[in-house]
Amino acid sequence: MGNMGVRLARQTCEWFSFAISPSHRTQETAMHPPIRRPDTLRPDTLRPATLRRRSLLAAAGAALFAPGLAGAQDRTLAIYSSRHYDTDRELYDGFTRQSGVRVRLIEANVDQLLERIRAEGANSPADVLVTVDAGRLARAQEAGVLLPIRSAVLDQRIPAHLRDPDGAWYGFSTRARVVMYDRAQGLPAGLARYEDLARPEFRGMVSTRSSSNIYSIGWTASVLAANGPEATEAWARGIAANLSRPPQGGDTDQIRAVAAGQGRLAISNTYYLGLLHRSARAEDRAVAERMAVLFPNQGDRGTHVNISGAGVVRTAPNRDAAQAFLEYLSSAPAQSIFADGNMEYPVVADAQPHAFLRSLGDFRQDPLNAARMAALSPEALRIMQRAGWR
Ligand SMILES: [Fe+2]
Repeated sequence: MGNMGVRLARQTCEWFSFAISPSHRTQETAMHPPIRRPDTLRPDTLRPATLRRRSLLAAAGAALFAPGLAGAQDRTLAIYSSRHYDTDRELYDGFTRQSGVRVRLIEANVDQLLERIRAEGANSPADVLVTVDAGRLARAQEAGVLLPIRSAVLDQRIPAHLRDPDGAWYGFSTRARVVMYDRAQGLPAGLARYEDLARPEFRGMVSTRSSSNIYSIGWTASVLAANGPEATEAWARGIAANLSRPPQGGDTDQIRAVAAGQGRLAISNTYYLGLLHRSARAEDRAVAERMAVLFPNQGDRGTHVNISGAGVVRTAPNRDAAQAFLEYLSSAPAQSIFADGNMEYPVVADAQPHAFLRSLGDFRQDPLNAARMAALSPEALRIMQRAGWR
């Protein structure tokens, strides 16, 4: 897994689709500008990179997660990824060591990747698409870009609610959408569920991002799945009424706002607190120190989670190697790298989350299927907009 200190120091956050969330990239990656590789600063540039090959180490472990790849030494797996984490390269190196298959990495935001695959047509070299958020994976599936596969390894390793029922995509790490608060102020009494956030006693306390953001959409889709459209619209009205300020910025901005006394309840994915915790900047670490986390709905359906995931491209020239790569991603060592890279939760039981996430404690996850959440997303957005959640 390489040197831990170096690896942790090089973390960055993913680029996001400009169409969906133009503010996310600048707001949230601004947290670590000095440690981003210069060549990833231009997301509009599709950047191929042939990764190191360590074929001498290819034998061990290959039998379990990458069996029978004929002619592996002569092949190159093309991975199209919108996850721009330096540590993902360790994953690709690990796959090459196991399988002997080289990896060529194309990085861009997911809309650019989908457009490129479409433009390349039947001749596309793309084998695997890697991205974050079930909604984006479902969008790739709807665009006809993904090839459903059957894999006993993936069916056994990946929990059913974190993969597409047809096998078009699989989740390899999760992020939980939680409530963060200043531990000095404490959690306001009576707050234990997402539903509570809409109650009048929490007026002026909630700091969250806009309704058009894909995290807001997925979160609201999970409320919609649990409570139905009428209750969800009433809830969204309550959220809009309880905001501490007009929705703005990314998750890190919500955390910073609450730390600065603007609102008391920040809605954020867990990994943003982890990134602040291990930031090179002392003021970021001080913010992380002040915040505590509520995992909502522990007494009922559980806390909403979304996924990072991947699927085999329909026109993949190397289908068996692409499937072997997905199976490799479910191995315990790969899971640790995949999840630690952005401080997300691994999806398999035999891989540990990062120590910081473990320090937040165990929690119950909402078992809502990620595909169902994605399917409810358009309605969730309409509900939020009708409710006046900007
Ligand atoms: Fe993010």
